[in-house]
Amino acid sequence: MAEELLFGTPITEIIKNRISVRTYLEHSLTSEIKDKLSRFFSSLSGPFGVPIRFELIESDLALKGSSAKLGTYGVIKGASTYVVAVVEKADKDLEEFGYLLEKMIIYATSLGLGTCWLGGTFKKSEFAKAIKQKNNEILPCITPIGYPSSRKSIIESAMRFAAGSKSRKGWEELFFSCDFSKNLSESEAGNYVAPLEIASAGTFSI
Ligand SMILES: Cc1cc2nc3c(=O)[nH]c(=O)nc-3n(C[C@H](O)[C@H](O)[C@H](O)COP(=O)(O)O)c2cc1C
Repeated sequence: MAEELLFGTPITEIIKNRISVRTYLEHSLTSEIKDKLSRFFSSLSGPFGVPIRFELIESDLALKGSSAKLGTYGVIKGASTYVVAVVEKADKDLEEFGYLLEKMIIYATSLGLGTCWLGGTFKKSEFAKAIKQKNNEILPCITPIGYPSSRKSIIESAMRFAAGSKSRKGWEELFFSCDFSKNLSESEAGNYVAPLEIASAGTFSI
C-alpha cells in the first residue's frame, strides 16, 4: 500500500500510535493551527457526497470546567475548543460522517493535537445550539481538540480502564476466513494486511 506522508510521518504510524485524549493543557489553539484546521474543513470531501458542516467551537466556560455550556459530564478536562460537525439526513449519512470526522482526527493528530470521539458523554443540545443545527441535519459525535496534557484526570484513567483502551484486540481475534472457526492468515489477506491492521488500531476490548 502506498503510504501517504503527513508531515513526514506515514499515516499508518499516526493511526497506530493515536490514543484518545481526555485531559488537555488549558492553552487555546494558536491562530496558525486554527487556520490550518479551517482550511482542512473546507477541503474535506467524503466517499458518498453527503453535505456536512464542520466548525471549531470555542468556549471559555468549557475551559473552566463548567457544565453550564458545552458540557461533557466532566469527562473532558482543560479543552476549550471542540470540533462539531453536522451531516444532512440522507442515505449513508452516518458513514459519511464517520469517514470525515476520522479523517479530520487523523489530520489533527499529525499536527500534534489530541482528540477524543464523543458519541455519548456530551450535552448534545448545547453543541447543537452552538453549531445552529438545522432540522434536516444530525449531530452524532463531536471531539475536543487541543494540546494533550501529560497527566490524565481520574475520570480519564477510569474511562480508559472501563473501555479496555490499553488492550487492543490482536489480528487473530478480529479477522477470520469464511467462518469464525478459521483465522485469516496474512498470506490469505494479501494486499489487505495493512488496511486491516489499521482498521484494528481502534478496536478495543470490552
Ligand atoms: C463512535 C465513538 C464514540 C465514542 N464515544 C465516546 C464517549 O462518549 N466518551 C468517551 O469518553 N469516549 C468515547 N469514545 C472513545 C473510546 O472510548 C475510545 O476510542 C476507546 O476507549 C479506545 O481508546 P483509544 O481511542 O485511546 O485507543 C468513542 C469512540 C468512538 C469510535
